[in-house]
Amino acid sequence: MPELKTTYLGLNLRNPLVASASPYSKKVEKAKELADAGIGAIVMHSLFEEQINHESRALDHFLNQGTESFAEALTYFPEMDHYDVGPEKYLKLIGELKKSLSIPVIASLNGVSSGGWVDYSRRMQDAGADALELNIYFLSTDAVVTSGDLEKAQVELVQQVSESVRIPVSVKLNPFYTSLPNFAARLTAAGAKGLVFFNRFYQPDLDIDVLEVVPTLELSTSAEMRLPLRWIAILYGKLQADLALSSGVHTGSDAVKALMAGSQVAMMTSALVHEGAGYAAKVLEELTSWMKAREYTSVDQMRGALSQKGVANPAAFERANYLQVLTRFDTRLK
Ligand SMILES: Cc1cc2nc3c(=O)[nH]c(=O)nc-3n(C[C@H](O)[C@H](O)[C@H](O)COP(=O)(O)O)c2cc1C
Repeated sequence: MPELKTTYLGLNLRNPLVASASPYSKKVEKAKELADAGIGAIVMHSLFEEQINHESRALDHFLNQGTESFAEALTYFPEMDHYDVGPEKYLKLIGELKKSLSIPVIASLNGVSSGGWVDYSRRMQDAGADALELNIYFLSTDAVVTSGDLEKAQVELVQQVSESVRIPVSVKLNPFYTSLPNFAARLTAAGAKGLVFFNRFYQPDLDIDVLEVVPTLELSTSAEMRLPLRWIAILYGKLQADLALSSGVHTGSDAVKALMAGSQVAMMTSALVHEGAGYAAKVLEELTSWMKAREYTSVDQMRGALSQKGVANPAAFERANYLQVLTRFDTRLK
């Protein structure tokens, strides 16, 4: 049997198929279904900065309402047990998942400003998380703010978090940076042990009947994999960090492509949401039978074989590919 064991962020994984952040981690039974289907590690749904801010505001209100002195305020503390605050629930869930699962559990923080992140990353570590994934979701709408300013702030945030925890930290990136390789290298220098390509920005749609902006979430297809696939192929072997592919992994063949491009792990959400947790076993079976047929003995042996460094024609990942693809259509017009 080919060896599927690998490492990610220094953690030992039984295989390179990771469940990316999704609602699966919200219930221990659902997360267990993924583990039972063979998944190598699980990334929890994110704790959002807004939840942390909400908690501190709620706590403030809770402690100050009707209290005239600090001593009196203290008398309210026992009632905190009954107060359902999001982040506390999240920390408790980390502990519960760790107790029930024997695979690594990666906690996820989603936000933009340094605020409570440092404190919460420590608390996630103390709650038992094996690693931390930071999802820096920020959409710049201000023409005065430069990309340089924003990137600097994000690198500093990653540095602050990485320096304040002992567990490995990864960063889930979006694809819209002018020089992704430069930003990726700076995040790595700031302490990121892994980079996840990519976070999906859900684009709002317009409802032209009710004249409103409507939020939309569509599950991915395998075609979406090509954006992260190209960047991982380009960056493989150039950074001191594990690269993880998230977006469009739906089949065993997709997982093979991710590894061949240079991903340390292939991450899945949409396919698991659509097909159910048990589907992970099918993807692992497909990966294993492809490896057997091609006589690969381990995933480490496959990794990066089709990266930019590994292929005979490295320009295929760059501008030349764009020209080639467009000219192919010249003869196909009806
Ligand atoms: C229902 C759903 C919930 C998600 N929740 C989170 C989340 O809490 N945090 C996060 O970083 N990504 C979240 N994602 C994004 C996924 O982790 C993943 O990056 C994205 O769906 C692309 O992978 P896929 O093509 O395998 O779905 C969510 C995706 C879906 C479909």
